This record gives sequence, C-alpha cells and structure tokens, in this order.
Amino acid sequence: MDKATPTPIKVVKVPNRPIADRFPWPFKGDTHDFSNNSKPLEPPIMLDITPEYVEEIKLKRELLDTRKEQTYQSAPHSFEAQWEILEMTMDEMASIFPHYFSVVKNGNEWTFQNHILGEEQSFTFGDNSTLPYEPLDFIGRHVQADLIYLAQRDGDLYLDAGQLCFPANWSLNFDFGMDFMSIHFPVPSRFTTSGLAEKIRNFIMRMEPGKPWTRFNWTVTVEPILDSSPEAFDEWGVKKDNVTSENAGELVYFRVEDQKLFRLPRSNGILFSIHTHLIRLDEIAKNPQWTKQLNNILVTMADDITEYKGFLSYKDKLVTYLESTIEETSSN
Ligand code: HEM
Repeated sequence: MDKATPTPIKVVKVPNRPIADRFPWPFKGDTHDFSNNSKPLEPPIMLDITPEYVEEIKLKRELLDTRKEQTYQSAPHSFEAQWEILEMTMDEMASIFPHYFSVVKNGNEWTFQNHILGEEQSFTFGDNSTLPYEPLDFIGRHVQADLIYLAQRDGDLYLDAGQLCFPANWSLNFDFGMDFMSIHFPVPSRFTTSGLAEKIRNFIMRMEPGKPWTRFNWTVTVEPILDSSPEAFDEWGVKKDNVTSENAGELVYFRVEDQKLFRLPRSNGILFSIHTHLIRLDEIAKNPQWTKQLNNILVTMADDITEYKGFLSYKDKLVTYLESTIEETSSN
C-alpha cells in the first residue's frame, strides 16, 4: 500500500464574527455562588477556533518564549500523558476542523499541518527528541486554550504538567506538583470547609473516558489583558484605579473561562482546558438580558467572592454603569 503523503499547505483565514454572536455567556440565573456548575460537554469537542486565533497564538508563543517558568511546567513522568494529549488534540483538530489542520500518519511517523499559520511539523510519535518542544508545549502552541494535565494517583489529583499563558491571577509555577485541594487553597475558605472542594475532586476522580464535562468561570478585568498572571500584576493590577462609572463601558472587560475536563484513557489522568474569552462591557450593554443578569449578580454577590475575583474596589462603579444602561433602555 502507498504511504500517505501530506498535501502542500494552503493558508486559510478564520472568518470574523461579531463577538456578541459567539461569546460564551455563562449565566442561566440571576445569582452566583460557588458550586459544581459543571455539565456534560455536548458535543464532546475541546477546541473553539475564534477570529482572535492568530493574535492569541502569537501572544501565547511570545509569553512561552520570554516567561518560560511562568507559562510552562512539567514533570518527566508526564511525557506519556503529554503524548496522549497531543494525539487527542491533533485528532480532533483534523477531524472537526479539516480546513484548518491536518495530520498524516504513517505508523509513528506523523506530519501535522496548521493551515491558518502555514506551518508544518513532521515527528515520530512518542519520541520527544523529534519535536521542538515537549508534546504538551508543542500542541498548546496551536490552540487558544491553556492546557493543564492532572495525574490521578494515591486517591488524589496532582498538577503534573501545564501550559498556562492566560491565567486569572494564579501561578502555574507556584501550583506545579500540588494536589487539588492545595491548588484551591486561595479560594475563600468556605469553598473547602463546606466540603464542596472535596466533592468536586471526587467527582473529577470518577470521570470516565469519552464523557467530558464543562463549566464556566468568570471575572472582570480592566483592559483586554489575557495575561493576568500574579507575575505580571504590576502591569495589570494598577489599572483598576482608572475605572469610573463613566468610562467602565469602554475600559472594563467581562472575562469568561470556558473550562473543559477530559479523562485520558491510557494514562488515567485528566486534561483540563481553559479557553479565555473577553468582551467589553459596552458590548454587554447592548443586550438588555445580559445587562440585567450581570447587574443582579454583581449586586447580590457575596463580598468575599468579589474580593477574591479582584474587583471589589470598583464593583460600585460597574453597578452604576449597568444600572444607568438599564434605565436608558427602559426609557427608550
Ligand atoms: C468541576 C471542576 C471544578 C470546579 C467546580 C472548580 C471550582 C473552582 C472555583 C469556584 C474557583 C474560584 C473561582 C472564582 O470564583 O473566580 C476555582 C478556582 C481555581 N481552580 Fe478550580 N474548579 C474545578 C476544577 C479545577 C481543576 C481541574 C483545576 C486544575 C488545576 C482547577 C484549578 C483552579 C485554580 C488554579 C483556581 C484559582 C485558585 C487561585 O486563586 O489561586 N480547578 N475553582
């Protein structure tokens, strides 16, 4: 039989679509508290290729190249699981987005093509020395989501590898190697003391292959800054003081993490993907239902959660802005 050969790369563009038409709105109701808000992921697809693909991949790679310890960590015993993640991700790329990505396999000799970036990489599956980066680091440089690998052993989950460029103020370098409860230690203590954190950990440990789960996490941020890492706090933290109820619509962004959890059948670990989306507050203001929901959530949310999420100091400005938008809409 003839060997499969890759066809030449044809560069394609991700089409533009208005942000409001594709933004993953996280709320069903009008209140917010800590909960296991995860749902079965249907369809069971990890990737979401948005019009921001090229600029976000460029930013990711810059951060990976300049802030290595902050953005990439791995234990040598995670390599097998890393190859499993690479395989799962590449297979999904080629089957769900064949116009953007392709993979040609001849036994363990694989050629991967990224048609958006016009890139091609041949390698031997399972052999780290044939890739320019570790497998998780390599595949992470082609997807917008951050990718975290948790190993399951001794009745717990441990952060054994991760590529994290766009964190909501948590540090991969600090959390690397930690167990699930320790990772969640900075969350207000009732998350743990109520038994919720333990329940969530046990729920994840019972997850089955082929039955992924999804949940949203959210916060607000000043300016469209994706790298809100503690290491870069000096750059983004100071911007909070600039917010007023007059400029909130333009300055403040609502930030949603579309998180997905997959059981890896070979390594028995968990892949946790986090795709971060940003939308400017004045875009939300165009949608009366979103505006009312966000306003109600902000007004009723406990102060410890608001403080933890990092916007207690300017929450009143956001509420004034949203309420004036609601008044304007209802008087028109
Ligand atoms: C069903 C699964 C999960 C649930 C329900 C959950 C729940 C939560 C909640 C409620 C928070 C506080 C976030 C906020 O209010 O802004 C949080 C924070 C966090 N979660 Fe999870 N989590 C889950 C899975 C995971 C997994 C698998 C990881 C893997 C690393 C993880 C890592 C984190 C981290 C790093 C933080 C931030 C902690 C910090 O401030 O340093 N979570 N999680």
